[in-house]
Amino acid sequence: MDGKLVSSWYNLHSSVPQSYVQPPERQPCNAVHVLSTNQKVPVIDLGGHDRDDIIRNIIKASEEYGFFQVVNHGVAKELMDDTYKIFKEFHAMLANEKVRESSKDPNGSCKLYTSCGGNINDVAKYWKDSLEHRCPPSGEFTWYWPEKPDGYREIVGRYTQELRALALRILDLISEGLELNPNYFTGELSDSPVVISHHYPPCPEPSLTLGAPQHKDPNILTILFQQPEITALQILKDGAWIPIEPIPNAFVIISNGRLKGAEHRVITNSSTSRYTIAYFIYPRKEAIIGPAKPLLSSTSPPIYSSMEFGEMLENLYNKGPNFENELHL
Ligand code: OGA
Ligand code: NI
Repeated sequence: MDGKLVSSWYNLHSSVPQSYVQPPERQPCNAVHVLSTNQKVPVIDLGGHDRDDIIRNIIKASEEYGFFQVVNHGVAKELMDDTYKIFKEFHAMLANEKVRESSKDPNGSCKLYTSCGGNINDVAKYWKDSLEHRCPPSGEFTWYWPEKPDGYREIVGRYTQELRALALRILDLISEGLELNPNYFTGELSDSPVVISHHYPPCPEPSLTLGAPQHKDPNILTILFQQPEITALQILKDGAWIPIEPIPNAFVIISNGRLKGAEHRVITNSSTSRYTIAYFIYPRKEAIIGPAKPLLSSTSPPIYSSMEFGEMLENLYNKGPNFENELHL
């Protein structure tokens, strides 16, 4: 694995190796509609006092975009900075150290990989390395996390706890907005979170490559911390790519066709490495995923079938994003 990490060899190349050149229709330089700013993407102030207003804005953003950014979310800036720094230091370690620190679990609950870990629809690789591990509230799996850089477990432990609290708060607001039971998402729908630290090294030919493919996240809610200054994340809305200028957090939400799962992708740049931290609220493998029962009626029948989350993920990996069509009733 270590020799394959993009971060191990990118600086030896002045052009992109053929295996990283995306087919023409996916190359960023050929995208016809890329908007110039993110002014239309909703920003929600979680510090506001009008709870009903916050809920309305979250639901509206989730219906229109499947995506919004939050400010005044209560996670300490210092903790965000420390976490960002520790992940950046992790990616700066020697490749063999990174591999050693991320392969303590024979069952793979913690792993380091390059590109996107294989999807049948991928014809080219992606310009990124990622460290991924589980971070459940029980503290289980922490003993498989990296111990280097010093302080990793303590800092990432605090960060993932805080992000869980924030995610549950947002899920509560969403439940209320959808008139679901306030605890709708607690328990098996949200107790298997995962954190991924992405590293997108500088790329000599950003117009030909992608850091991450066009995709929807397959989980309940994602909280993404983007490195400031670099605009690389884009979401697809009405046929146009909207670049998302970094504000500390961004979210992607999915449900039974009422709230959108945003299609998004990541482009590369030629000057600096970019780092992001994605925190994913995942259901347990055995949890049944399907349209929320209280939202269904004879006039609003389910449009997706239900199945175990683990089975859905497996199908998604084996069949690719088109599996979503099979779920449609
Ligand atoms: C993801 C993702 C975007 C980014 O991890 O699913 O879309 O900018 N990340 O790293
Ligand atoms: Ni994503």
